[in-house]
Amino acid sequence: MAARAVKTNALSPDVEQVLLAMEAARQRTLQLVAGLSDDQLERVHSPIMSPLVWDLGHIAAYEDLWLSHRHGRLPLLRPELSGLYDAFETPRAIRGEIEALGPADARAYMAAVRERGLEAIAGAGIGERRRPTDRRSASGLVCEMVLRHELQHSETMRQTMAIAGLLPPGEPPLHPPQASEGWLRIAAGPFSMGARPTGFAYDNERPRHTVDVGAFRIARRPVSNASWMRFSEGGGYERREWWSHEGWAWKEEYDISEHPDVAAGHPEAPVCHVSWFEADAFARAHRARLPTEAEWEKAATWTREAGDELAALGSVWEWTASHFEGYPGFIAYPYREYSQVFFGDGYRVLRGGSWATHPRVAGPTFRNWDLPQRRQIFAGVRLARDA
Ligand code: AVJ
Ligand code: FE
Repeated sequence: MAARAVKTNALSPDVEQVLLAMEAARQRTLQLVAGLSDDQLERVHSPIMSPLVWDLGHIAAYEDLWLSHRHGRLPLLRPELSGLYDAFETPRAIRGEIEALGPADARAYMAAVRERGLEAIAGAGIGERRRPTDRRSASGLVCEMVLRHELQHSETMRQTMAIAGLLPPGEPPLHPPQASEGWLRIAAGPFSMGARPTGFAYDNERPRHTVDVGAFRIARRPVSNASWMRFSEGGGYERREWWSHEGWAWKEEYDISEHPDVAAGHPEAPVCHVSWFEADAFARAHRARLPTEAEWEKAATWTREAGDELAALGSVWEWTASHFEGYPGFIAYPYREYSQVFFGDGYRVLRGGSWATHPRVAGPTFRNWDLPQRRQIFAGVRLARDA
């Protein structure tokens, strides 16, 4: 579909490129669920996750809203569906009960939205740049946001599939990292945190600002399954002194011990499915701590430049010590519900990306967030220490 539009319309090169990526992403989304039955798609596998078919309808509704309606100024294709597929009007907990589209109708809706979206971009103005220095047109930026939304939901869907035991063969691909253990020392000094002012970035990555970071050390490798088992077998879930007040209360209330995937995984592979509360306790048990977001981003960008990379980056999300907040001078864009409504004490920031994160989404400035008790996310730990 995208290929045809690219040939028949004089679209600017950045839009052509992102349309091809959208087409590829769509094929992968459909491929991911191709082997699932209607029941597996419609079932609520976990109270904290949507039925998979809801994600499909939501991907289409988001694309229709942003590409055709807001950008292309067309009426919504199915206005009666907009509330059902709005993440706030219809929260995860009630998505199993609503009368939304079934699997066949959801797939048809995705295709119809895409078809009309391509026409909308062709009509919205071609190659329109806001500033001569912008390498991206407004259409290119909207398409990029819609593309990344679908890519992010393909990770959410994999989280649901992992809970349900429905991941495709070969997933999760978590392997022992190549690099040796040990610590990297990052010297004290300022660095530029956040995304550059032009090109696509989420609102929460801007504005770029200077942060003065003291000297610290960061682990070359993320924590392994074997280390986690030693922690657990050494009383990790019983030693009160290693836990925060909140973390201990959560652990006691839900009778938490290590996630079943920890014992089942390769001993040297990165530990996955740990909550922030557990990551924090593990760090204290090792006389270490979680890196702050600024430390993490400085380490990720500086070691990259020095050719001495953090190993296994992008295999599991890495919990940081930081709460999710706007950077100084934050401006919500293009909508408050992407980031701003989550700012505050509740959410903790994760960095780096997981095996299920598309590389287009997880750059060194990308910020993910979740609640400290959550374990559905493909998250592990990389320790830090004062230098
Ligand atoms: C950035 C992964 C926390 O899933 O809530 C998806 C991404 N925003 N649809 C989420 C997102 C809107 C978001 N995270
Ligand atoms: Fe979404």
